[in-house]
Amino acid sequence: MKPTVLLTHPLPPEWIASLDAQVTLIAGGEESPGWRESLLQALPHADGIISLLTARVDDSILEKTTHLRVVSNMAVGVDNIDVPACTRRGVPVGNTPGAMTDATADLTMSLLLAAARRLPESSADAREGRWQTWSPTGWLGADLRGATLGIIGLGKIGRAVAERARGFGLRIQYWQPRERSEGEASGAEYVPLDELLSSSDFLSLHCPLTKSTRGLIDESALRKMKPSAILINAARGPVVNTSALTRALTENWIAAAALDVTDPEPLPPSHPLYALPNCFILPHIGSATHGTRKRMAEMACENLLAGLRGERLPNCVNTEVYD
Ligand code: DGY
Repeated sequence: MKPTVLLTHPLPPEWIASLDAQVTLIAGGEESPGWRESLLQALPHADGIISLLTARVDDSILEKTTHLRVVSNMAVGVDNIDVPACTRRGVPVGNTPGAMTDATADLTMSLLLAAARRLPESSADAREGRWQTWSPTGWLGADLRGATLGIIGLGKIGRAVAERARGFGLRIQYWQPRERSEGEASGAEYVPLDELLSSSDFLSLHCPLTKSTRGLIDESALRKMKPSAILINAARGPVVNTSALTRALTENWIAAAALDVTDPEPLPPSHPLYALPNCFILPHIGSATHGTRKRMAEMACENLLAGLRGERLPNCVNTEVYD
């Protein structure tokens, strides 16, 4: 009998072609971001789960399974999964590192450039009739060459951002809990967090969402930043405290924010952040290129199939399950 695999959101058949003929697939609906009823009912039969970052895989889900062999997340971040709970049950958890590095770094630079040069605001002014003339003092933005980019989290994506930012003449510094040997090769200087906050012209977040990074950019952090600073978040929304950021942008503690991720997601259209001219929000599209999303799905299938065969996952976040 073929193993049963639950997929929390349907994916284009060509992205998951490797599953054809190997598994019985039960997919969630386009409209639901998480666990629709039919999937919940199928949990007791599940041998594997392919989850998206919008579907929580926690104890309440795991306890309904009886012989689950693998959870494969189609994302590098696994903050939607209770990894320790999977580990306790001996279930390996797979993710997709590397697949989205370039796309996310490219999008980060787009956010940085758009916020630095006030593209959303000036584009809206052009479209809505506020472009009266070429104005020597109109729509002035921030210079990049010689400015300082602070990166929180110098992992794969942080380093890819550093590589791109160097080309624009930015000076790069970074902070994360432990200094990285790759820092020097990336041309990034390690500095303490408070120094990073107070001396960066651009602050870009590339850390995973964990207990220690949740709310890292709170009121006290935002108050340490320069009034001219621009915050970029292409990591996870909850790394930034949304109400503190709303105040910081309203009261000009910092100059602007460009966000690909928010807390909550989606951010409701009535949220005050959308009304601020110095805030630019995208709907979590860091990895949204044709090639990247296909590769992420293929990696998720590779992890899943390895787990179903009882082999080590090519990319496993809880390797303790093999000890
Ligand atoms: C990830 O892989 O964690 C990204 O957020 C997806 O865009």
